[in-house]
Amino acid sequence: MKRLILSLFLCSVLSAFSLAQRVPTSHLMPLPSSVVARDGRLVVNQQFTFALTGYHEPRLDHARQRFLNQLRLRTGIPLHPDSKDSAKATLLVKVEHGSSPVQRLEDDESYKLEITSEHAVLNASTPLGALHGLQTFLQLIEVGPDGFFLPAMSINDQPRFPWRGLLIDVSRHFIPLDVMKRNLDGMEAVKMNVLHWHLSDNEGFRVESKRLPKLQEMGSEGLFYTQAEIKDFLEYAHDRGIRVVPEFDIPGHSRSWVVGYPEIASGPGPYRVERTDYSQDPILDPTQERTYKFLDTFIGEMAGLFPDAYFHIGGDEVDGKQWDANPKIQEYMRTHTIKNNADLQSYFNARLQKIVEKHGKIMVGWDEVLHPELPKSVVVQSWRGQKSLAAAAKDGYRGILSYGYYLDLMWTAARHYAIEPMSDDAANLTEEEKKRILGGEACMWAEFITPENIDSRIWPRAGVVAERFWSPQNVTDVPSMYSRMNDLGRQLEYLGLTHVSNYSASLKRMSGTDDVAELRALGEVVEPVKDYTRMDTAPALVNASTPLNRMVDAVEPESEEAREFSLLVDEYIKGRFSDFRAASQIRSQLEQWKSLDPQLEPTLEKSYLMKELRPISQNLSALAAVGLQALDYLQNGSRPAQGWASSQAGLINNSRKANADLMLMVVSPIEKLVAATGNQQGSTP
Ligand code: ACM
Repeated sequence: MKRLILSLFLCSVLSAFSLAQRVPTSHLMPLPSSVVARDGRLVVNQQFTFALTGYHEPRLDHARQRFLNQLRLRTGIPLHPDSKDSAKATLLVKVEHGSSPVQRLEDDESYKLEITSEHAVLNASTPLGALHGLQTFLQLIEVGPDGFFLPAMSINDQPRFPWRGLLIDVSRHFIPLDVMKRNLDGMEAVKMNVLHWHLSDNEGFRVESKRLPKLQEMGSEGLFYTQAEIKDFLEYAHDRGIRVVPEFDIPGHSRSWVVGYPEIASGPGPYRVERTDYSQDPILDPTQERTYKFLDTFIGEMAGLFPDAYFHIGGDEVDGKQWDANPKIQEYMRTHTIKNNADLQSYFNARLQKIVEKHGKIMVGWDEVLHPELPKSVVVQSWRGQKSLAAAAKDGYRGILSYGYYLDLMWTAARHYAIEPMSDDAANLTEEEKKRILGGEACMWAEFITPENIDSRIWPRAGVVAERFWSPQNVTDVPSMYSRMNDLGRQLEYLGLTHVSNYSASLKRMSGTDDVAELRALGEVVEPVKDYTRMDTAPALVNASTPLNRMVDAVEPESEEAREFSLLVDEYIKGRFSDFRAASQIRSQLEQWKSLDPQLEPTLEKSYLMKELRPISQNLSALAAVGLQALDYLQNGSRPAQGWASSQAGLINNSRKANADLMLMVVSPIEKLVAATGNQQGSTP
């Protein structure tokens, strides 16, 4: 089935891009801003040579090394890439001048890549453009029967937005630096240029402070990054053209701060980073001077550690209960005519902004920080809706969009892809106001991620968000996106990301066997429950020490099998049941699903971790049996007995319900087959 659908996709990709623009860009993600196809192909073989000319810095040597490692891995060719005559190199990279030593939002990231059958020339004004162009080159390599090649073309590329970020929360579950680094490699591959590092939250404070050491000593359970480790990590990011914006979330989300320093909290304490206790939601006390003195010390230290110009202070979801309950705070509000908690947070933000600015940084905050008193220099990150992005831009603030890009909500790639920063209210902004929208960030919140499954929650879907920020606004074709995202998914594994490989490994561990073919097949037609359902249904389980080792933690956020099956069923119905090939593909798929439960039963029943999958496995088999009956009717051109279709409603509705925090994703297409039996011309028995 997969192959047929893939060829349908390729046809639509080729018609969308080759015919319209004559460009074979079917492997690129993000798509470049402009591509013109040329005749011929550039062969990559043992004679491949690489030369760097023009401006030079060590980062370019590192990029060359990484590029060649990938090329060797991809092609299996033992390369001897040094070219004596750079003008004759197979790939010549020319960089005009350096970029700023600390990467800036304003840096030029454009590049031009000219590929002919003789050679390729990559021109960039700065090393950043060269990094991006090298990634494009790697994505374009195709394998043929006689070796490897790139189709000839001219690419002229630059990002649509200068801020193209990925947030990774390392507080809820600590993510070690090797895992962080491979995710930076993934970001580089899709030209994302900001890692937003959510370094503190209630569940853990993850950075070593030398001046305020009780932050990590008492607030991290030993899971934090030393300053030396952070410096090394920042270099790794810089090498890949990625800025790192640290976030220290205050005044809410701050339990880990006040475990060691209860004197800056608004309530009496004592506090713990105790992972199962969610009754405490401490917030900092904005009415006492020592809070600001503390923050001055802390931010001063962190401003020295993190070179980026931007510094994120969080500011979201401030639960004002501790302010309401504290008589001193209430008295302060009265004497300073602060009317409510929003105004108190605004007072806090105004003082905080001065501290951040004093240490040479530009403050960033979540959209709750928007308030008439907020200084215009603050960058606002919209997460609660798109309206605040446009409202902020109208009021003179620069903004970034994260609403619609929360990867933890387990949405489909298409749903993320459809979110457009410049739509709705933003579409009506003036040109001047539009310029204030800097881009956006995909967000990986860590309630349900571990070092093991984080890659599969981020990739390849983050590539789709990266495309939204990089490519022109009219790049919206969904079949093309899926086809290219699947290519990207494969390529990202070559970088050491584990979003694919982790799946089988998890199933083997769960089942205690190597033979996981049937379990795999079951896992491939389910998806984790969406939005905050998992948090809402099992709040007691949501803490950083919960072992995330169930099927829901292993399966992909989006079922490619179910998506393809659904398309196939749609095609079959649209073709009035005459496509014999589609029918036989549907049949063989349904037969496989029908036979799964009897095969899986012994494995599921004897496994503590997998017993919970039995109802979903039974539903799948039962549904597949109904689907096969429906297909029989459709293929024979006969109508079922009166009431047959409606008598399946109970099973269909039951199969739609979440089980084991999983959704069975083939219910709708099977329901369509059942419904179609009533819509055909055939005879009634
Ligand atoms: C957020 O999701 N509270 C920023």
